Amino acid sequence: MKIFVADTYEELSRQAAEDAITLMRSIKQPLVCPASGDTPAGLYKYFTTKKELAVSHWSFVGLDEWVGMDGNDEGSCLFHLKNQLFGPLHISQEKICFFNGRANDLDKECDNIEKFIQQHGTIDLAILGIGLNGHIGMNEPGTSPALRSHVTELDPLTKKTAQKYFKEQTEITTGITLGLATLMEAKHIFLLISGAHKANIVKRILEEEASAQLPGTLLRSHPGLTIYLDAGAAALIQPRTA
Ligand code: PGA
Repeated sequence: MKIFVADTYEELSRQAAEDAITLMRSIKQPLVCPASGDTPAGLYKYFTTKKELAVSHWSFVGLDEWVGMDGNDEGSCLFHLKNQLFGPLHISQEKICFFNGRANDLDKECDNIEKFIQQHGTIDLAILGIGLNGHIGMNEPGTSPALRSHVTELDPLTKKTAQKYFKEQTEITTGITLGLATLMEAKHIFLLISGAHKANIVKRILEEEASAQLPGTLLRSHPGLTIYLDAGAAALIQPRTA
């Protein structure tokens, strides 16, 4: 596990983006799993400002989606990624596989996404954030790490915090997500965490015993994990840890 501590969110985003670009250069046809959410938005912005960045050979697999929503719903995970990443980088539709949270058959959505990953071998880089409750994607506290893609009830804190993605109060109860078993097979994981409000969860995932009750702790055993923190998020950890 590597930990990079930046002074600012901008520096965190720039470093993670540059590291991702360097990594992608060494892979012929990379498969990237980009989380939505506020934290990776700066990294995606940085990608879009790199004029010489060639991404037409990259493919993308969605991390998660709110059940009942697809990319046309404002506030859906795909909606945000279309605006922040896929649109500005002109990624063609066939290079993207994303959960359709409006589908009648959500198990089939899970099968499709796992098949897409299999066809590409594995995820080369998962760009992840973490929830205040330690969730990864929508793998909420208590989720079995043996699960692959699945439908899940959302934790009360997730439902509350997620309101920031919507213009109006929106009822969400359920999510569809890549499982920890799928994510742990990714070759590289970049876990981005920003802001003083996340300082406590950073301390907990680094210092507590690894447990399904705190999914972020399980990532520590991944050999290709890099954690990117800004000063706010790193505020409660010992300098030696960083
Ligand atoms: P955030 O979400 O980046 O918007 O804080 C992270 C998460 O809940 O996984």
